[in-house]
Amino acid sequence: MTAQNPMQKFDIAPEDIDRLVAAFYERIRAHPKLGPIFGRAIAPVDGPDWRAHEAKIASFWRNAIGIDRAYDGNPTKAHVANTDIHPGMFSTWLDLFADTARAELTPAQAASIEALARRIGEGMRYAVTQRGQVKGEPPKLF
Ligand code: HEM
Repeated sequence: MTAQNPMQKFDIAPEDIDRLVAAFYERIRAHPKLGPIFGRAIAPVDGPDWRAHEAKIASFWRNAIGIDRAYDGNPTKAHVANTDIHPGMFSTWLDLFADTARAELTPAQAASIEALARRIGEGMRYAVTQRGQVKGEPPKLF
């Protein structure tokens, strides 16, 4: 498979991202610590609100990987604003994401998206540690 877009960071198709995202949030919904946080923010049970969240997250990943530029959110701001989210949760989220990526993607794709998630996650985690201490909006980093 060859990359569709010369700006694309690594080879992965939008369908692979959709499959990864669906599998990841299935695991998230079942997770004892992270599930309830998403249950409050998205919906307590699987359904249309979850499909909308997954579509937004797939768009976020296509943007982060360089496939397209449709995503126009500010994830750092969303995580700082949600006071259920604490810095210590990021490693749990990232490990679950990496396990799902290894189950759903090729080893090379999984390694690439895991590295990207850990980089983005570190910026978000730091912003969450600064919650309430820094005035103004978190910068739009991704
Ligand atoms: C402690 C770990 C994390 C938790 C508990 C968490 C939880 C959430 C929740 C509950 C939402 C829904 C929005 C809201 O609350 O208002 C959300 C949105 C989102 N999350 Fe996370 N998240 C975590 C880490 C990450 C990481 C590491 C990434 C990316 C690598 C990420 C990407 C996103 C994106 C793109 C959105 C949508 C933001 C928007 O509205 O445009 N999250 N997250």
